[in-house]
Amino acid sequence: FDNISEGIAITNDSGHLTAANPNFADVLRLEPSTLKGKPSITDLLAQTDYARQAKEAGIGNRFSGFVELQNDSGQSLEVRCSRLPDGGGIWLFSDATERRQMDNRLRQIQHIESLGKVAGEVAHDFGNVLSTITANLHLLESDSGKIPRKTLLQRIGGATELGTSLTQRLLAFARKQRLKPEVVELNDLVEGLTDLVGIGLKTGVDLQAELADEDLCVCVDPGQLESAILNLCLNASQAIEGEGQIRITVSREDQDTAMIKVSDTGCGMEEAIAARVLEPFYTARKDGEGTGLGLSMVYGFIKQTGGDIRISSTKGQGTSVCLSLPLCARPAKRISPAAKGTALVVEDVPEELKRAAMLLQDLGYQVTTAACFADAMQALDCRQSFDVLLTDLQLDDGRSGWDIAARCLDEHANTRVVIASGRMPASHPYSDGADPRVTCLEKPLSRELLARVLQNGPASALAAAGA
Ligand SMILES: Nc1ncnc2c1ncn2[C@@H]1O[C@H](COP(=O)(O)OP(=O)(O)OP(=O)(O)O)[C@@H](O)[C@H]1O
Ligand SMILES: [Mg+2]
Repeated sequence: FDNISEGIAITNDSGHLTAANPNFADVLRLEPSTLKGKPSITDLLAQTDYARQAKEAGIGNRFSGFVELQNDSGQSLEVRCSRLPDGGGIWLFSDATERRQMDNRLRQIQHIESLGKVAGEVAHDFGNVLSTITANLHLLESDSGKIPRKTLLQRIGGATELGTSLTQRLLAFARKQRLKPEVVELNDLVEGLTDLVGIGLKTGVDLQAELADEDLCVCVDPGQLESAILNLCLNASQAIEGEGQIRITVSREDQDTAMIKVSDTGCGMEEAIAARVLEPFYTARKDGEGTGLGLSMVYGFIKQTGGDIRISSTKGQGTSVCLSLPLCARPAKRISPAAKGTALVVEDVPEELKRAAMLLQDLGYQVTTAACFADAMQALDCRQSFDVLLTDLQLDDGRSGWDIAARCLDEHANTRVVIASGRMPASHPYSDGADPRVTCLEKPLSRELLARVLQNGPASALAAAGA
């Protein structure tokens, strides 16, 4: 009793001390003389540096249980009390200041370690971007002519785009991206997205959307939410080997919260991996393709929006990722698919089809996609007209985008045509610029240029190219 480093006291049924060990006064930082006259625990605590905190925590003569108190000078005290059958109590007071400090220090070290890791990864990725730019600039300067100037410029452009997207994703994780929140109805948003998501999935992967039977309005940046759901679906698709299902569920979680859940029947994750997937640059993908920024970006965006993300996964069975978002009372502006009009996108490279369709959808068009020449013709057969045709030039089977353009222009005088190619010939059916409805653009397409062309016509593309 005398040698125990904690402070121990026994109280009677009215809370007054009947016994205390020598360390009791020490731990409470009280003069030993204060214990004379068998004061009550409430009176004793009122004389300590923890007086206010003890009162707030409700520690008095009748207290039972465990509480940790922290005073204004940063000291910590653990208080335990068990009641005795006669109404008395056994009290144990431990000074936890040193242990607390150790815990905080450990947390700080872990924090610094993860910051160091992120800084290292950022430096590595930007180093790659910069060395691509520098190497190709040198080649341009030496003007040896071995590699065409255009290829070198394209490589520099590609590296710059990669750098920009990396910056945007880091800002998203840091919850510092500039969001443009608006009131959105979640069923509308998810329904409008499923076609587009379908394009990016591996064959054998089946996508289903299960919508809520009530309107669920949230205030969120719709473009970022779409990109978050797309990211989750791509992860789910990558986790599926062969055949499998992805299900997007929209539902009400409780009175104030809506939920979007993306679940898959993929490989699932071990607990140790699941615990780390929100860290920036954490990737367990073996193909070397992952940047590990997908989920951290989703996490940053959802937190910035006032929501939350929860991941549950069972190895070998699948994964569910739930995004919860606070509901808002105002009614959403319906996402009107025909806000800007309809667009047909024709492209035989799946990745590029997805990208072009997203660009146009982002610009407000209701997009129909065609993955080959025959699909494009069928889409034109089925539909009266499209406001915009965006087509690749060199299509499957040696077919050409010129033919699709010609048919559109013949049949629908008001269709605006954009023809995109990585190898645009110097001379072609529209190279004289005589048809104001047609614009030819070099790939990769940029959102800004496409927006300008669709708004102002081909002259803006020339102006931009010359700038
Ligand atoms: N649905 C899922 N099923 C199984 N594992 C998953 C799933 N989603 C994420 N993961 C694991 O979490 C890791 C991190 O995911 P995250 O999206 O952040 O990065 P990534 O997919 O590796 O790279 P990137 O998104 O840049 O392509 C993945 O590498 C994968 O191991
Ligand atoms: Mg990912």
